[in-house]
Amino acid sequence: MDIRHIAVIGAGTMGHGIAQVCATNGYQVTLIDVVEEQLDRALAAIRKSVEKLHRKGRLSDEQREAGLNNIATASEVAAAAPADFVIEAVVEVLDIKEQVFATLDEVTRPEVILASNTSSISITELGAVTRRPERVVGMHFMNPVPLMKLVEVIRGLATSDESAATVVALAEALGKTPVEAQDYPGFISNRILCPMINEAVYALMEGVGTREAIDTVMKLGMNHPMGPLELADLIGLDVVLNIMEVLYAGLGDDKYRPCPLLKRMVAAGHLGRKSGRGFYTYD
Ligand code: CAA
Repeated sequence: MDIRHIAVIGAGTMGHGIAQVCATNGYQVTLIDVVEEQLDRALAAIRKSVEKLHRKGRLSDEQREAGLNNIATASEVAAAAPADFVIEAVVEVLDIKEQVFATLDEVTRPEVILASNTSSISITELGAVTRRPERVVGMHFMNPVPLMKLVEVIRGLATSDESAATVVALAEALGKTPVEAQDYPGFISNRILCPMINEAVYALMEGVGTREAIDTVMKLGMNHPMGPLELADLIGLDVVLNIMEVLYAGLGDDKYRPCPLLKRMVAAGHLGRKSGRGFYTYD
């Protein structure tokens, strides 16, 4: 299918990053969020990011123009109706995602693929609320989307080969490297990443080392670009906790139990960069 127009549902950090990458790679984008102020914040963040990448020579003049001009905004999911492809990136709450998928199934053409950027919710379950489960696929981008090369492509139980191949081709057209994963809790990325972060929080809670010591060991000793606690702040501690809960419930092994300190920090609203405070503090 010829894809020209992509609708992105949800204008948070992931949604606006995805919209930006689609636009700078020549797609017409409609970015949709029910919270209108979120759309204003998203457009401002996209502008800042596009200008920065252009200044650094990582985007051409033409890509800059496209990034600044090819994104329309809307505040109702129904605005996805004319799109040739949809990427959902709303909050990680099953009921909300199911509602969005049911609406998308109503308003978009039956041949349109509905992709989800979910980091933890079953693609098979999302497919089951639509009449086109063979066209429901996971398309999991990494944060920060404009800089990270990976897109994890997740097949639900009913996802067709053709739909998975279309998503792989689209990820490549966006300049990303797609990797396929099956629909098990956490897929590949978060099955491995989040237990590592959770273990780092245990090490902090038990006083094995300070936050700086833990992050420095992983940066200088293992060549990770960021330490696990810094990275948790970037991802959002609520997101990490939610993924650990999904792993624990879905796989049933004690090794996935969320660290009590992680739970306490989320309960206190210390969610990382987005709330100004997590393991570190931010302006
Ligand atoms: N757009 C444009 N520029 C951006 C940007 C964005 N969205 N985000 C950051 N930058 C800029 C920074 O501002 C910085 O600019 P300056 O050089 O002008 O200061 C530049 O990019 C990169 O800065 P650094 O020199 O610090 O670069 P770095 O080499 O450390 O790269 C990084 C930054 C790519 C974020 C790197 O630290 C990294 O790879 N960190 C790990 C990120 C990661 O693991 N992400 C996955 C999270 S998991 C996930 O997303 C999935 C999930 O489901 C939870």
